[in-house]
Amino acid sequence: MKTRSISAAAALACACLALPAIADDASMMTEARSAASSLPPKLVAALNEEIARSGPEGAIPVCRDLAPKMAKDVAASTGWQLKRVSLKPRNAQRATPDTWERAALEDFDRRAAAGESPATLEKGEIVEQDGKRVYHYAKALPTQTLCLNCHGPQETLSPEVKARIGEHYPDDRATGYREGQIRGAIIATKAL
Ligand code: HEC
Repeated sequence: MKTRSISAAAALACACLALPAIADDASMMTEARSAASSLPPKLVAALNEEIARSGPEGAIPVCRDLAPKMAKDVAASTGWQLKRVSLKPRNAQRATPDTWERAALEDFDRRAAAGESPATLEKGEIVEQDGKRVYHYAKALPTQTLCLNCHGPQETLSPEVKARIGEHYPDDRATGYREGQIRGAIIATKAL
């Protein structure tokens, strides 16, 4: 009898000790999601505006220069570092995934193929990076109609877009997408 009550108390103590860690994890996930989700709508608005003004070829600097600038602004106001990665990067220098990010992207592709909506796919966890604990978050970026202007099948791209992309990204791998496919992920990280 006595033994049983001790182990029940021990179990309770364990549960209580575990709780704060779980709560922290959930709130980090919420923070990361909110920081990561703030970028795509702004980028889409800027892309639409610039495409209307100067065509898709004229909007290439939005993805090249404005996207990283917007990511810096989010980092300055939230402390979350943002970047975009892809299994088929256009800018391999900036967008090549690390091991954790590659696994997340592969998992997103598998889950989308199994019927999950790409817009809901995300993953977040605490990882050890260079001896430090970091919260690492990924959210899938599905291809929308707008994106096909610059990421669609080669034969559908305008000659101007093809020329401009060829000039800046000779090793481009980011064409051939269809609407709804996962183009990549937005990554949010923060040291704990
Ligand atoms: C006007 C052309 C254009 C449009 C439209 C466009 N992109 Fe891009 N995208 C680019 C360029 C150029 C880059 C390379 C940016 C760089 O140099 O970092 C890029 C890079 C990316 C990256 C980073 C990974 C990589 O491949 O380098 C992702 C993710 C991405 N685009 C997703 C999208 C999504 C999703 C949409 C639609 C909402 C979209 N893009 C619309 C031109 C475009």
